[in-house]
Amino acid sequence: MDQKVAVITGASSGIGKGIASALNSEGYQLVLSGRTCSRHFENSDTLEVVDKDLMREETPSVLLDKAVSRFGGCDYLFVNAGSLESGTIEEIDIEKMCRMARLKVEASYRLIYTFLKYFKKKGRGHVFITSSVLGTKTRETAGAYAGCNHALEALAESLRMELADTDIQITCLEPGLVQTNLHRDWDVQPAELMDISDTLTPEDIAEAVVEIMAKPSHIRIPRYMILPKGHRI
Ligand SMILES: NC(=O)c1ccc[n+]([C@@H]2O[C@H](COP(=O)([O-])OP(=O)(O)OC[C@H]3O[C@@H](n4cnc5c(N)ncnc54)[C@H](OP(=O)(O)O)[C@@H]3O)[C@@H](O)[C@H]2O)c1
Repeated sequence: MDQKVAVITGASSGIGKGIASALNSEGYQLVLSGRTCSRHFENSDTLEVVDKDLMREETPSVLLDKAVSRFGGCDYLFVNAGSLESGTIEEIDIEKMCRMARLKVEASYRLIYTFLKYFKKKGRGHVFITSSVLGTKTRETAGAYAGCNHALEALAESLRMELADTDIQITCLEPGLVQTNLHRDWDVQPAELMDISDTLTPEDIAEAVVEIMAKPSHIRIPRYMILPKGHRI
């Protein structure tokens, strides 16, 4: 079997962990990244864990080098690590908001371009970006978070055009509310605020990813919105 290799950021929790578990079961060779990934996964023949802060400039190259040295290359990149800061003008913590922007935008851009330079040399590859339903919309008090996702969507759409005639694909995943650690510190959980009884799970997102990955290469899915019932935004 021609084993495919995927690098996944934010693999220690939530959506990234769900995708990592699904691809592990599907027989992929994986490089998993997060600051605390080794608490959740152990190195094995098909799995390499890299505990590293994505805010460090060298992390994208470290992840690519690891995929190449351990597994002989990389076929898929999942740009998934992120955080969420929202709140009114009075409430929002400006330093935390700017850290979110550096992680979700700057670190993601570094990661995407580092891997695309490699995918261009290789002639193929697929980048999945976990954007959000707020990648194309916004809501009161969540403008900075939505803005980060809009920034990812704008880059992805521009790259899709640049890469249209190649075998390199870009897919933005646009989930609505998923039950993860993203809202861990909220006093009232968003499911309650949004009156959603069945939120999405990381497994729902992973299932969608596996379906997209199984498509023949002439089919492109640049954007994939996935919402739970009752999601009104
Ligand atoms: N949950 C939702 O409702 C939802 C909906 C739409 C989109 N999203 C997007 O989905 C993505 C994943 O979020 P999630 O919901 O799965 O949240 P999560 O459970 O909180 O996971 C966030 C992941 O990001 C990693 N991370 C955070 N800061 C990092 C850093 N400085 N360096 C390296 N890794 C870092 C964390 O790993 P460590 O702590 O180990 O570093 C963790 O694995 C985010 O981009 C989020 O915006 C989530």
